[in-house]
Amino acid sequence: MSIEQPLAGTTCVVTGGSRGIGAAIARDLAGAGADVAVNYKSSLESAESTVEDIQHRGQSAIPVQANIAKRDEVFRMADEIRDEYGAIDVLVNNAGITHDQRFDRMTEAAWENVLEVNLTGAFHCTQAFTEDLIGSDQGRLINISSIVGERGNYGQANYAATKAGLIGFTKSVAKEFGRYGTTANCVAPGFTMTDMLKQVDEDIREKICEKITLGRFAEVEDIAPVVTFLASPGSGYITGEVISVNGGMSL
Ligand SMILES: NC(=O)c1ccc[n+]([C@@H]2O[C@H](COP(=O)([O-])OP(=O)(O)OC[C@H]3O[C@@H](n4cnc5c(N)ncnc54)[C@H](OP(=O)(O)O)[C@@H]3O)[C@@H](O)[C@H]2O)c1
Repeated sequence: MSIEQPLAGTTCVVTGGSRGIGAAIARDLAGAGADVAVNYKSSLESAESTVEDIQHRGQSAIPVQANIAKRDEVFRMADEIRDEYGAIDVLVNNAGITHDQRFDRMTEAAWENVLEVNLTGAFHCTQAFTEDLIGSDQGRLINISSIVGERGNYGQANYAATKAGLIGFTKSVAKEFGRYGTTANCVAPGFTMTDMLKQVDEDIREKICEKITLGRFAEVEDIAPVVTFLASPGSGYITGEVISVNGGMSL
């Protein structure tokens, strides 16, 4: 292991690595020397573009399709990744969706869809890779929560429930994985410039931005290095924690 390549010799899986925060995480982990499996649900072109970007820099990555809400697809994907790289070391549960509705009008479908992807999806992926993570000398589970899971947000009861749920999930798994030396942590980004944020109306975005101490939304490059840090040997004594990366926001 070198300081420039702290993740050399490790394999990382990033769910939802085709676009947005996940793509930046995949690039950053590869830049630190890891082999990276880039999961996507439907955006094959975007996943291939993330992978090509990584490969052009002489690093190793593969695209892997699976809807993380479907357990059989997740376990099939895990086999495909192991066929290519062997057992993995780091799982980043990043894939997530929103379906915003005021609570009194929230449909059961909006509630269930968001829970199935954001929370149950992380459950499936973590179970598919648990043996790898606890068997690795550098096993790391990193779950992407949100400032909304920490503080709540208007119109996002479903999303907030999943992101708060991920925090409880992470803290519990950290207790179980600890005896194997495997850590589990959350990163809780603030509002970040991706397709997800672009779905929010411009006037609402302006109001949100006024609450950010640093006066701007996060770029994906503000989030990714924190994940790489949690994947790296230097963070091996941090577990069960939530690292907030929100520009000093008062939501
Ligand atoms: N953007 C923000 O302001 C913000 C703030 C805090 C936390 N977060 C969290 O950060 C994570 C990434 O958000 P983002 O803004 O980068 O989102 P994004 O730009 O909308 O990208 C979402 C990613 O998740 C994947 N995905 C969605 N549903 C999936 C499924 N069922 N199975 C597999 N992959 C699936 C997408 O794959 P396809 O390309 O194939 O659709 C895509 O790669 C999410 O968990 C989100 O909740 C975002």
